[in-house]
This record gives sequence, structure tokens and C-alpha cells, in this order.
Amino acid sequence: MIARILLLSASLSGCALIADKKDPGWEYAPQMYVSDSYEPYSQVREHTVNADGKNMRAPVEGSIPRSSTGYDNTRLELMYNYPIHKDSIADAARILKNPLETNEKNLASGKYLYTSYCAPCHGDAGAGDGLVGQKYGGVANYKASNVVNVSSGHIYHVISKGKGRMWGQASQIRPVERWQIVQYVNQLRGYQGE
Ligand code: HEC
Repeated sequence: MIARILLLSASLSGCALIADKKDPGWEYAPQMYVSDSYEPYSQVREHTVNADGKNMRAPVEGSIPRSSTGYDNTRLELMYNYPIHKDSIADAARILKNPLETNEKNLASGKYLYTSYCAPCHGDAGAGDGLVGQKYGGVANYKASNVVNVSSGHIYHVISKGKGRMWGQASQIRPVERWQIVQYVNQLRGYQGE
């Protein structure tokens, strides 16, 4: 009996016996603590293939951050990810202005992009009846009374950050392309304003 108690107390105080406080001691399932796959942000072991031993590769020289247009990072309407919150649509609608001239070239590009990125849900004419949209449900019709008269900045914001059941598409579509799509959506809904 006494031997048992001694054994029990020894096993309970096991952690305290380890001199190095940072050493976690015996790990029951090590792969659950440290992933076997290469993790960029939690590296424990030296990478054996990359020359500098890091999992995370440094961007090649001359890379331009996604957050920047590379030309002018102060113009919100050209930034990949501008600092207006997703839910602040009214602010975006007021602040963001289309920097592109409305012309045939931009409209043609807008139509092409719209057909890839939006028509599957919104339908070719923007009635909310695309093949995906029919299954997805709740897709807006551009001629509905709450959409037909919203500003270009409003639509740009919805494309960039999403709204309700629609996801934002900022990671797929460049700012200039988003504005071209806005022009085409304006044409579809017959909107003449800013
Ligand atoms: C996966 C399907 C899907 C795709 C793709 C999609 N949308 Fe939407 N969109 C929706 C849904 C659903 C809503 C309704 C959002 C809500 O209010 O819940 C919506 C709403 C909208 C609205 C109305 C916003 C408002 O103020 O009510 C606009 C404008 C719009 N989308 C434009 C676009 C454009 C432009 C594209 C392409 C870049 C696009 N959508 C791609 C599903 C989609």
C-alpha cells in the first residue's frame, strides 16, 4: 500500500521534476502539439529544403503588396482593400467614386468580367436568376426598388466586401476591374447617376 502511494505521488509530481521549465516533458500524442506539415506561422523544426531554414518564403524582390496598387495607395477607390468596414455601406456609397471614364472599352470589359464573376448567381440580365443563384437563393435583382437607384460606390463596396448572403470578391477581382463591372451593372439596371 505504501509503495503504491509513493508511486502515485511520484507520477503526479512528474512535471515538477523536469529541470527545464520550458520542456513539456512526456507528450502523449506529439503530432497533436506540433504539426508534421510545414506551417508558415508556427515553425518548430528547421526546414530541410529551403536554404534559409524557414518554412515561410520571402517574397521575391520587386513584389508589390496586395494592399497596394503599386501606384497610389492613398486613393481608396484604387486600393485592393480600403479601410471602410463591410457594414458601413452608406459611407462607402458616399465616399467611393468611379475613377474610370464610362466608355465602350470599359463596358465591354465589365460585361466580360460580369459574365464570369456575377452572372452565375445574378443571371445575364441581372434578374437574380442565374443557374447558381436559383440554388443559392435570395439573390438580388438589380431592378428591385432597393437596388435600382443605389450609387456606383455602393455597388463597388458590395463587390469588394460582400453584403448579407453575398461574399466579397476583393481577392479575385482587381479594383479597376470592379469599377468596370460596376459600369456594366449600371447599364443593366438603367442607372444614370454617379
Ligand atoms: C454566390 C452568388 C453570388 C455571386 C457570385 C454574386 N452575388 Fe451579388 N448577391 C448575391 C446575393 C445572395 C445577394 C443578396 C444579398 C443580401 O442582401 O443578403 C446579392 C446582392 C447583390 C447586390 C445588391 C446589394 C444591395 O445593396 O442589396 C448587388 C449590387 C450585387 N449583388 C452585385 C454583384 C456583382 C456585381 C457580382 C459579381 C462581381 C455579384 N453580385 C456576384 C449573390 C451573389
